Amino acid sequence: MRYLVTSALPYANGKLHVGHVAGAYLPADIFVRWLRLHHEDVVYICGTDEHGTPISISADKEGVSPAEVVNRYHESIRDAFSTLGIGFDNFSGTARPKHSEISQEFFSALYNKGHVIPRVTQQFYCEHDLRFLPDRYVEGTCPRCKAPGARGDQCDACGQIYETTTLVEPRCKICGNQPIVRQTTHWYLQLDDFREKLTAWISHKGYWKENVRNFMLNLLEQGLIERPITRDLSWGVPVPLADAEGKVLYVWFEAPIGYISSTVEWAERIGQPERWKDYWLDPETRLIHFIGKDNIIFHALIWPAVLMGQDKTYCLPHDIPANEFMNLEGEKISTSKNWAIWVDEFMEKFPPEYLRYYLACNAPERGDSDFSFKDFQQKVNGELNNVLGNLANRVFTFAGKNFGGEIGHRDLSAAGQAVLDDALALYAQIDDGYRDYQVKKNTKLALDIARMGNRWFDERQPWAQIKTDQEAVKETLWVCLALLRLVSIALYPILPSSMNRLRSMLGLGEAVDWEQFDPQVDFRLGETGPLFSKLDDAQIDAEIELLRQNSLQHASNGNFEPIKEQIAYEDFARLDIRIARVLEAAPVPKTNKLLHLKVDIGSETRELIAGIAEHYKAEDVIGKDVAMLVNLEPKTIRGVRSHGMILAVHSEGKLSLVVPAGDCLPGSVVK
Ligand code: 2FM
Ligand code: ZN
Repeated sequence: MRYLVTSALPYANGKLHVGHVAGAYLPADIFVRWLRLHHEDVVYICGTDEHGTPISISADKEGVSPAEVVNRYHESIRDAFSTLGIGFDNFSGTARPKHSEISQEFFSALYNKGHVIPRVTQQFYCEHDLRFLPDRYVEGTCPRCKAPGARGDQCDACGQIYETTTLVEPRCKICGNQPIVRQTTHWYLQLDDFREKLTAWISHKGYWKENVRNFMLNLLEQGLIERPITRDLSWGVPVPLADAEGKVLYVWFEAPIGYISSTVEWAERIGQPERWKDYWLDPETRLIHFIGKDNIIFHALIWPAVLMGQDKTYCLPHDIPANEFMNLEGEKISTSKNWAIWVDEFMEKFPPEYLRYYLACNAPERGDSDFSFKDFQQKVNGELNNVLGNLANRVFTFAGKNFGGEIGHRDLSAAGQAVLDDALALYAQIDDGYRDYQVKKNTKLALDIARMGNRWFDERQPWAQIKTDQEAVKETLWVCLALLRLVSIALYPILPSSMNRLRSMLGLGEAVDWEQFDPQVDFRLGETGPLFSKLDDAQIDAEIELLRQNSLQHASNGNFEPIKEQIAYEDFARLDIRIARVLEAAPVPKTNKLLHLKVDIGSETRELIAGIAEHYKAEDVIGKDVAMLVNLEPKTIRGVRSHGMILAVHSEGKLSLVVPAGDCLPGSVVK
């Protein structure tokens, strides 16, 4: 089977953070490596997304040209991917001439067939900055879901795209003023022309992930409205029409074409300029786009329509495995608040494969996931080291010391055969798992093979056995080595360089195929050594502190959280805030963050759980009067019905309770 695998083109306006990698890159790289173990014909394509308002806004902020921003970040992103072992066949960029040429051809084909038509339309225009405000140059409240901070082209909260001028309370991103609406001409893609074809196409996609399929079906149901695919901007691919001066193609129209232009670049680079056609024009090729959930609409709806409207018959996406998002220490990753882990900085401190392992264990496949440093340490120490590293280490040491590292195959006892059979069953499940992009489950199953090895080693007690039965010890070791060999393939897509190291210790060559197990194999170990090393508490604590400091630093540089959407007095009046006197307080067992409080709110006493234990000892809060939201719906936390919320402020890494400046009675109302 032939595959073309792509990962979403990252915008060249910032560094790569762990959330990006977890969503669209590592899962694709793992899938590609697994395909290669099966000797499938696969090309893996990416590049940077170099146009659009994300880039020009960054350039405006820095006071440099968009090209300068693009070049800098293209290199930084490319290098970070390469250190992380993300093995693209080609990594291009959409500001390259070939890309402009192909994008213009795509536009012209649609235009010539009448799928793109001009319309005089209304656009936001800033009278202060004397310019139109496309896409991210304007922010406001989403007309669909009412979330604040929605952009002109898309709302991050609900993922919807809409007519820009329907944005509620719009503000110019440059000067903060309210823009006016002005007339301009844009070209609109007639999505409805493709309704039947799209509906027929999606009807064969029962195997898609539910989030993508449902999103699509919902859109088709809502009706396909025409979408403007041009913008009033100077940075971008010029619209190839005589009457379109000063207009460029919308970044989301041309960015996916980058998958094609990058494949063309690859074919030219390998000296076979026609090869790209095998991957884009042969209907047998499986085109698979790995993306984050915010990109679904563009990949599953607009992009297939654009492909359908070409003169050539292009392959349509076979699958679009969209992942959810990764949070960081319980909060949404935010580059604007500097609440992020930058991949390049992380890899200067920790081995890249520790990051691959952790992001794989924690892949946001079916729901959002969370990056936590403590959990990262636990996975590295408790799983890679204590389970897999430990098995390798004890078996290699024992085999080296007692048998010169040579363990030939043998007839297995029933018990030995049973362990091997169980491991082989897991190995087969892991193979199936990769086919379904189930990276998270596979890390667990592969570690289970190593766990079986440790259990078998412990049960057999070779250190005692060696005194009486050398053959039995050899069987013990041979089974463990066979299991390690299975792991070296099963985990190879996730940890390629560590697994190749493990293979070399096992006396084997690098992983090249999804090996069928050979019961006749004789092991002759190579040079052995520790496979992994542990992360100590001090290093992890320092990282947590650094993360907080960086984000605080950022805030104290004037980067405050944006003020929320304006509310009416009635909205405020719905909050019932009163003074509560703390009567009792005790730490919640097995947590270091929570206190269990009993408070007097005048009319009654209440129990609640407060996340303040890292900042206040139980005895210090008893007797304190604090502000408390008393009409918040109750929630059961750790078995306690927590009814209400005491108010606190986070500032410079500290948390302070909100207390009245003068004496008041419990139950007094805060207004
Ligand atoms: O959301 C993003 O980061 C976009 N730059 C992804 C583009 S994917 C593709 F269409 F190019
Ligand atoms: Zn302005």
